[in-house]
Amino acid sequence: MAFSLLLVVVLGAGALFFVAHVAMPEDRGQHVFAPDLVRRGGELAALGYCASCHTAEKGQPFAGGRPLATPFGTIFGTNITPDPESGIGLYSPAAFARAMREGIDRVGRDLYPVFPYNHFTRLEDKDIDALYAFLMTRAAVAAQNRANQLAFPYNIRPLLAGWKLLYLDKFRVTERPDLGRYLVEGLSHCGACHTPRDRLGAEIASQHFDGGEAEDWWAPPLNANSPSPVPWTEESLFNYLRSWDAEHGGAIGPMAQVVAGLASVPEQDVRAIAAYIGSTMAKQGESDGPVEDNQTQAMQAHPQGAELYAGICATCHETGGHVPFTVASLGQHTSLYAPDPRNMIHVVLEGAHPPEGTVGAVMPAFADALSDEQIAEIIAYLRARFSGGAQWENVEDEIARIRRRTSP
Ligand code: HEC
Ligand code: HEC
Ligand code: HEC
Repeated sequence: MAFSLLLVVVLGAGALFFVAHVAMPEDRGQHVFAPDLVRRGGELAALGYCASCHTAEKGQPFAGGRPLATPFGTIFGTNITPDPESGIGLYSPAAFARAMREGIDRVGRDLYPVFPYNHFTRLEDKDIDALYAFLMTRAAVAAQNRANQLAFPYNIRPLLAGWKLLYLDKFRVTERPDLGRYLVEGLSHCGACHTPRDRLGAEIASQHFDGGEAEDWWAPPLNANSPSPVPWTEESLFNYLRSWDAEHGGAIGPMAQVVAGLASVPEQDVRAIAAYIGSTMAKQGESDGPVEDNQTQAMQAHPQGAELYAGICATCHETGGHVPFTVASLGQHTSLYAPDPRNMIHVVLEGAHPPEGTVGAVMPAFADALSDEQIAEIIAYLRARFSGGAQWENVEDEIARIRRRTSP
């Protein structure tokens, strides 16, 4: 609570420096857009995964309603179809550019930085124009926005002006970087999940790509601190980002939405991203050895986990990669070397399902089939087998917590 009060004082002081933002005039004009501009806008929307946050499960594309869990509460993606009442139909190009760069909606309200405008602020004019053309040519859907569920003081929007004063300008860049960096740091906002955030939800610049989180999943480091047992190369990154990589497997959880977006964009955009991330992940003197597998000791130490694994998981994970979309050994997945067990728990409880309209890894969900204790045993066995004996603490409590969160 003391922190909350401090927050109100600090952000409130910041907010005072701002005059209330003006409302932008309603734009009811008929716009005509060149087909090429609309097409590129569609590719850019995929590169920025706009649909993933702005589409509810089984909902109309871009019509909003998707809940986004944050440490401050739940924020809902809004309706960004051109419906004049409930969507962004009244946005002029200038109002849209202001929303994308400054996080202010048409009527002048500050927007929460879950909407990654601290990255979108780097977009060039021509890309913002293309996104506008794309969105304004989508089907208008009448769907009222859902009210955010945020605790005090995070529910006070004007405080966001103070947040921006502290954090937003730092992210503006003036030089034109190469394509990979432009996409990674801007539109594709990889750091929004892969960089840790401070207590006010801002990415910590000095820990760029040190690993962060998204919707209670761990997002691994994308720099030399990566604990991946198999080194990442530009080629394996390209494969992973596009669909699936034979050495590292495929993306699950929030990362699967990213890959679904990147699967359809021009190859050169994804190659540029892979080249840039390949350079941030590069390590000195790394060798491509086989992953360490202490199967015998692990079976002795965790017989129950070993037995459950052999009975349930081995049919897919012990075939040397012969089951489609599995890698030769589970030990190749970075999740086993994470600082916490969240990704392992998510994957066992929820399974893996390729995002709608894509093909990819399928793993059944075991939430109903296995108890918390059984899942914890399997995880202990796999950690002992592949992570040199290191164990996570309170795994059962974490399983119970994640169960409560995902099935209310
Ligand atoms: C990580 C999730 C996320 C992604 C990705 C995302 N948005 Fe959003 N966006 C949001 C949320 C949440 C809001 C509402 C924030 C609020 O309520 O303050 C929002 C608000 C907006 C607004 C303001 C509209 C309004 O209703 O007030 C626009 C315009 C917008 N987004 C466009 C885009 C575009 C274009 C993209 C892709 C390039 C995109 N967004 C990607 C989460 C996201
Ligand atoms: C919405 C949050 C989010 C965004 C945005 C995001 N990632 Fe991820 N990423 C994750 C999560 C969560 C994982 C862990 C997935 C898993 O365990 O399968 C992950 C995993 C990865 C991995 C695998 C790392 C490893 O060692 O296993 C790579 C590589 C990666 N992301 C690259 C990127 C790049 C490049 C971008 C930007 C183009 C990006 N991510 C954007 C959340 C995100
Ligand atoms: C029907 C086949 C199947 C079964 C059974 C199965 N899995 Fe999987 N599992 C998969 C596939 C496919 C993937 C995606 C792998 C990839 O991308 O390489 C996967 C991925 C994983 C991952 C990696 C998650 C990540 O972060 O990327 C883990 C860990 C995992 N499974 C554990 C288990 C455990 C534990 C069991 C038993 C309780 C199990 N699996 C049962 C098919 C299966």
